[in-house]
Amino acid sequence: MTDRLTIRRPDDWHVHLRDGAMLQAVAGHTARQFGRAIVMPNLTPPVTSVAAAEAYRGRIMAALGEGVDFTPLMTCYLTDDADPAEIAAGHAAGVFTACKLYPAHATTNSAHGVTDIRRLTGVLETLQRIGMPLLIHGEVTDKAIDIFDREAVFVERVLTPLTRDYPGLRIVLEHITTAEAAAFVAEADHPIAATITPQHLLINRNAIFDGGLRPHAYCLPVLKRETHRLAVRRAAVSGSPRFFLGTDSAPHVVGAKESGCGCAGIFNAPFALEAYLRVFDEEGALDRFEGFASEHGARFYGRPLNEGTVTLVRDAVAVPDRIGTGETAVVPFMAGETIGWRFDG
Ligand code: DOR
Ligand code: ZN
Repeated sequence: MTDRLTIRRPDDWHVHLRDGAMLQAVAGHTARQFGRAIVMPNLTPPVTSVAAAEAYRGRIMAALGEGVDFTPLMTCYLTDDADPAEIAAGHAAGVFTACKLYPAHATTNSAHGVTDIRRLTGVLETLQRIGMPLLIHGEVTDKAIDIFDREAVFVERVLTPLTRDYPGLRIVLEHITTAEAAAFVAEADHPIAATITPQHLLINRNAIFDGGLRPHAYCLPVLKRETHRLAVRRAAVSGSPRFFLGTDSAPHVVGAKESGCGCAGIFNAPFALEAYLRVFDEEGALDRFEGFASEHGARFYGRPLNEGTVTLVRDAVAVPDRIGTGETAVVPFMAGETIGWRFDG
């Protein structure tokens, strides 16, 4: 049995680092494990300009302090009025790595998102031309569609025509949760990839209702039934370069989760690698972990692989019930549980 695993330093290709006090509290957890991270732009107000992204990047580096080896890769939040020239200029200047498409009202801070993808014709043509990735929150927002079906319907109604209309557009379907999304990404004759979170690999929708309503298991896209979890697991450990690590770590202060209308988001950054490694271990796929965590994403984004390594050791690690106090008190993913791996730096 392998009790110690050393891999090339990994990256997190989808994370919410927030701002202000929460940024100060959470940024170090991501920087401790990962070399780079794709930072989501859904702040209030959202990050829509090059200047806002540069300023936000500066706040992230300031929160981490001197001497921390971590690179935040910034994204541009797309609105109906997104300006292709601003996006291209930000990309050329090395500020914007990618654009993020939130369908309006799909999730947290998406009120300024895109009401109809046809509004984005100029942006999508530009992204395709300059090779800049489009990152997609892949859920329809039609209230008539059952919440558990919104991703599969998005694949059929929006993603399928999008890949047909823009055959060269580089797409990352973020945080996939369904067999339909996994199959589409695996099989499409298109430059497309997907990120996968630890929660969608480890728990299914029963976790939201386990003996009572469990707000800390609520995220979007919402957890699905077991057959989907198993399909997403198979994709993650398949070795396909189209699937890679993206935690979607999304902290909300405990009171905003434990509420009459609790926020969507699971804070998994403190034990992210340990949680993913548990999955690869259970699947007998430890040899595929490095590809998923440290290689596939970098290759899709056309970036060099990180130098340096991290080591994980088989050990009983207890996840605390709570991390932080006051306005940064958060309940981490797997709170109160024991993970069978320890991050050893
Ligand atoms: O659960 C989620 N939380 N899903 C998202 O898409 C956004 C995120 C957040 O920002 O809290
Ligand atoms: Zn997210």
